[in-house]
Amino acid sequence: MTFYARHLFFCTNRRAEDADRPSCENCGASRLRAYAKTRIKELGMAGAGGVRVNTAGCLDRCEEGPCLVVYPEAVWYTYVDEEDLDEIIESHVINGRPVKRLFLPEPPETVARVIPAPVDEGG
Ligand code: FES
Repeated sequence: MTFYARHLFFCTNRRAEDADRPSCENCGASRLRAYAKTRIKELGMAGAGGVRVNTAGCLDRCEEGPCLVVYPEAVWYTYVDEEDLDEIIESHVINGRPVKRLFLPEPPETVARVIPAPVDEGG
């Protein structure tokens, strides 16, 4: 059971322009996160049982950003502008159809990684 039907995390980390790695904030992440949050509210989808849009720190995919991840599906996206976010909201968030053209590549090492299921402590 999830508290939100969909939960969006936008990396808004900022690094100096001359840093070794790029950062999502230098691509307008906070402004575009605010846009998405406003759209979700306008659509009447914000809140428990609906959709939550949150700020995240660095998600360590800096070179592929700006980054956004949508749960519970754990779909990683990049985006450029409001049109990309409108498409993610309309297709994925509302209709459950992820937007493949905006997917970040799946790192090969995550395919082989196995996370054990939680242990049922009984009760
Ligand atoms: S700065 Fe956004 S993923 Fe690292």
